[in-house]
This record gives sequence, C-alpha cells and structure tokens, in this order.
Amino acid sequence: MFNDDANNTQSIAPEGVPFSQACENNKQPILEILQKELQDATHVLEVGSGTGQHSVYFAPRLTHLTWQTSDVSAHHHIINAWHAAYPAPNLYAPLAFDLSCDSIPINKANPTSYDAVFTANTLHIISWALVKTLFELVGNTLPLEGKLIVYGPFNDNGLYSSESNRQFDLSLRQRDSNSGIRDLQDVIKVAQKNKLQLSHQYSMPANNLILVFQKQS
Ligand SMILES: C[S@@+](CC[C@H](N)C(=O)[O-])C[C@H]1O[C@@H](n2cnc3c(N)ncnc32)[C@H](O)[C@@H]1O
Repeated sequence: MFNDDANNTQSIAPEGVPFSQACENNKQPILEILQKELQDATHVLEVGSGTGQHSVYFAPRLTHLTWQTSDVSAHHHIINAWHAAYPAPNLYAPLAFDLSCDSIPINKANPTSYDAVFTANTLHIISWALVKTLFELVGNTLPLEGKLIVYGPFNDNGLYSSESNRQFDLSLRQRDSNSGIRDLQDVIKVAQKNKLQLSHQYSMPANNLILVFQKQS
C-alpha cells in the first residue's frame, strides 16, 4: 500500500484510524538518519510509537533489523490498525510500555535483546521524572555501543530554537504542567549519568533534532 516513488511516499490512514500529518512530514528525513545510524543494529525498540505511522514506514525500509513497537496500552488498537494496513515481516505488534510503571518490555515470542532504542516526540510529553526513567532503563538495557536515538524539539541553554517551538512549549505546559520542551544540555547530562554518550546531533526540518547516544562502559 505504499508507493516508493521519491515524490510520493504518503501513507493513507486505515478508515477511522488516527493519522499524524507530522509523521508524514518527518518520516523520510528521520529514515535517512536511521539508515545511517542503524546499519549495525539487529533489533530496535521504539518507545511511544503513537499512531504506528513511523513504524510502518521504517520497518520495510530497514529490512536488516526487526522493529518492535511499544506504547501505553490505550494506543495499541491504533498501532495494530496501521500494522494491519501496512504489514511487514520485520515489524512487531506493540508491547505495553508505560514508563511510569513498567520495565523495558520484552516480546515473549521474540525475546532477542535490543541493540537500539528509538523514540520520537516523547521527551516533551512525558514528565522530566519519566525522561530520567527512560534514560535509566535504556542505559541499563543496551549493550556496549548500543544506540538510543531521540527525535524531537529541544531548547539550547534555555533558548527556543524558533518562535513556533516557543508557542508549542506554551501550549504543552498549559495542557499539562509536567510537559515541555527539554533543554539539550539537561538531556545530555541525564544520558551521561546512565553511560549514554552523545555521539551525533543532527539538525532536522522544522527546528527539530535527532540526538544519537551510544552506550559506553
Ligand atoms: C506526541 S506522541 C509521539 C508519537 C510518535 N512517536 C510520533 O512521533 O508521532 C507521544 C507518545 O508518548 C506516549 N507516552 C506518553 N506517556 C507515556 C508513558 N508514561 N510511557 C510510555 N509512553 C508514553 C504517548 O502514548 C504517545 O504515543
């Protein structure tokens, strides 16, 4: 159901299932980084898969690895609907993963260890306490040289990267005072505490970043 023509990579939502235009806009630029950074990865855990739109785009284009989706259970019917519309042999149904109460989820049918973790647009949604939990869990889970790849908006030393990100941050905080765009330097510090060293930082369209952390001894 996808057209790989470089000019037309639009996915169509299954009927009645939520669709994210942001995912449509950012999936190809993110994929290009993943193709480079995940060359040696075999089994990737995605945290906060959301609609599942990223996973159905990435998995068939990263066929050397398996892609394990996860999110809080309330999202699973949406992810499953996208997976049913765009199945791929290396794409796995979502595991229940709520950072506030769970440990890193394991797929009993495929208990292979993860050598990479990917998460998009989650750090500004979850509380700062859960950001720290995420880095702690991932730091304890990844093998040496394993990668954590994070996509989203970040502030730089307290400064917004754009007026639209400032507005976005205000709207996030009005909706939930625990949410908000994180400071790059704070995230790097938390990562370092958990043996995750920033190895690459990519500027992405719409004032977003991809941060790649690598597990060190
Ligand atoms: C803004 S959405 C991002 C979804 C998708 N990754 C994307 O880029 O479109 C944030 C995601 O974080 C998930 N999330 C929120 N709280 C969470 C928690 N406590 N544990 C795990 N995931 C959580 C939400 O369910 C949602 O899927």
